[in-house]
Amino acid sequence: MPRAGYFISVEGIDGCGKTTQIRLLVERLAAMGLPTLLAQEPGGTAIGRRIRSVLLDARNHGIEPMTELLLFFASRAQNVAEVIRPALDAGQVVVCDRFTDASVAYQGYGRGLGSAAVQQLSEVACGDLQPDLTLWLDIEPAAALARVGERESGRSAGRDRMESEALEFFLRVRDGYAQMHADQPQRIRRVVAEGSVSEVFGRVLAAALPALSERGLVARSD
Ligand code: TMP
Repeated sequence: MPRAGYFISVEGIDGCGKTTQIRLLVERLAAMGLPTLLAQEPGGTAIGRRIRSVLLDARNHGIEPMTELLLFFASRAQNVAEVIRPALDAGQVVVCDRFTDASVAYQGYGRGLGSAAVQQLSEVACGDLQPDLTLWLDIEPAAALARVGERESGRSAGRDRMESEALEFFLRVRDGYAQMHADQPQRIRRVVAEGSVSEVFGRVLAAALPALSERGLVARSD
């Protein structure tokens, strides 16, 4: 039985422009009259925000890949139970800034833990919950890292622990997203993230609105 709400996740490597596009998407869906909730990973709950700060603190050099994976899932399990499932049960459209696909891409491919381990944990932590639609904002890792560099110059804290990884890491993460997209093209839509904010947003809508209209959530003319 299809659930009451609709679950969208937005993914991509650091510097792909995800935060801006998610804000625009949430605003647009709300303006169309859809009850929309923004969720975030890691984070999204009080406990999740504490886990997020451990994960992203650049001083935490000694975090093992498996510890990292478990912490992302600890944050996710809390987020699912406290925020995401209740919102979906209440019929809301949940737009989540990353979900399990990020763990497959970053820890499975980036850290080399493999996707099978991530999938096993996903079943334990989240049951059968997966997004109805995933928008993968795809960009060349070198261009994305240049954006991370520009962003860094505007803030005092410098790069976080994940952003500090080398280009090779992000090449593997991107390969992970590309492989998932090839395996599940219906659920995971590739959105070219190069170009202006409004160009990319046009592509985001072109990917999201037909899927929402298929579920009867927006009119076809939208
Ligand atoms: P954010 O910057 O998009 O909020 O995500 C924080 C960082 O955490 C980003 O570098 C991606 C990374 N990440 C993982 O490595 N695995 C995960 O499961 C999630 C959700 C994020």
